[in-house]
Amino acid sequence: MIVYGKGRKEIREAFRKHNLKVSVYGLGKMGLPLAAVYAEKGALVTGVDIDKQVIENINKGINHVNEPELDELVKKNVNEGRLSATDDPVLASKETDVKIIIIPTLLDGEKKPDLKDVIAVSEKIAKGMKKGDFIIVETTMPIGATNKKIRPALETTGLKAGIDFGLAYCPERTSSGRAIRDILGAHIKVVGGFDKKSTKTAEAIYTVINSRGVIKTDSRVAEAVKVFEGIYRDVNIALSNQLALVSSELGFDAVEAFKIANTQVYSNLHMPGTGVGGHCIPVYSYFVTNGGITSDTSLLKLARKVNDSMAKHTVDLTVDVLNGNGRKMKDSNVLVLGLAFRGGVKEVRNSPSFPIINMLQELGANTFVYDPLFDKDETKAFGFRYKKDFRDIDCIVVATDHNEFKNYDWKKIKDTMRGIALVDGKQLLNPAKARSMGFDYRGIGYV
Ligand SMILES: NC(=O)c1ccc[n+]([C@@H]2O[C@H](COP(=O)([O-])OP(=O)(O)OC[C@H]3O[C@@H](n4cnc5c(N)ncnc54)[C@H](O)[C@@H]3O)[C@@H](O)[C@H]2O)c1
Repeated sequence: MIVYGKGRKEIREAFRKHNLKVSVYGLGKMGLPLAAVYAEKGALVTGVDIDKQVIENINKGINHVNEPELDELVKKNVNEGRLSATDDPVLASKETDVKIIIIPTLLDGEKKPDLKDVIAVSEKIAKGMKKGDFIIVETTMPIGATNKKIRPALETTGLKAGIDFGLAYCPERTSSGRAIRDILGAHIKVVGGFDKKSTKTAEAIYTVINSRGVIKTDSRVAEAVKVFEGIYRDVNIALSNQLALVSSELGFDAVEAFKIANTQVYSNLHMPGTGVGGHCIPVYSYFVTNGGITSDTSLLKLARKVNDSMAKHTVDLTVDVLNGNGRKMKDSNVLVLGLAFRGGVKEVRNSPSFPIINMLQELGANTFVYDPLFDKDETKAFGFRYKKDFRDIDCIVVATDHNEFKNYDWKKIKDTMRGIALVDGKQLLNPAKARSMGFDYRGIGYV
């Protein structure tokens, strides 16, 4: 089917009649939910991945991504013949009319954006492309890369964007743990075409997928939207982290000051913490600062530095509380609660827990780790010692705000421990309550 140039009515019909053939390149945390939603809306979807195990599982209807509602969506759509997977990117391109790229853009050793994989995938897609095809890039991109890097790769076999095929950048505005809800319309979709005709087709497709509809722009602005959203979070978290340190020095609780300040409509101070993790927010600043820009980007760089420094601050609090209890690091058993970068999400990329644990170990502490989302073997595979109980522990460091930790019987834990030290990097406990239980409490955001 010719897709490039088609409008809302024809695209909606194509979904309804199962005439829209779509390939999704990258079946990870974001790609598989996206592929499953396209299939659920009626498209015939071929997922493409380099991981053979992923492909084998999906073709059996087994979901490998920890995401609410995804098990049922994958099973149902595989069983009903609308979702399958392959490791043959060229064949998938030949057999489909819409191709979606959603594999990660990484940073290289110098923290510069590394587009190798997305370019390689685009060249594979080009080998199977036909006139009238439509390419959607959802991978987060350095600003301008869809036009400057992806388009030339897609044109390597002779077809031209804006003439023979359509191209749009439509960023994934989703979070792990709520991907399906986000894709279906928790946030409006941004669609940016390489040309006006591409924008129109992307709009037609995403008004079927996203119940909130779309905002139309061009591909470069759409790229900037996604990168700026991440940078906004990074810089604002850095601001809160710095103000939390100032508040602590002045002797009052930043959390209280922030909450009251935020009753003013222009103030949106975020919560301070151990740092920023995941492969989005701590990464996108580098797309700008290390992306060949000559304008002043010192604020972005400083924010990265401030957020990265919070792991060290967490360790400083641990040293301080243990010393205050008359203990030395090298004689102390420290239990770090949480490996994941965010509560409820089985994802450790750039998680501040790792530098925290490593620094504690370097200081000689006998360090143990527990995260309910990682079993003993998985924890060991990271090189850490797993410990689920609190016997002989001198200090607990809360590094992730998992619900399981919120629901702990903290009084019982305190009575089981050898020591009384508690470092709360996530405002998990109320300091007054924790102290009334007998903990010697230190927390980020609290005095
Ligand atoms: N995870 C998030 O919370 C989130 C949120 C918003 C946006 N994003 C963006 O979505 C994109 C994808 O992220 P993700 O979290 O799904 O990544 P992921 O690491 O979970 O999955 C990537 C998948 O792509 C596959 N892959 C890698 N190279 C490939 C290739 N050459 N051909 C085919 N498949 C290949 C991998 O095997 C893996 O299954 C990224 O650009 C990311 O920045 C992610």
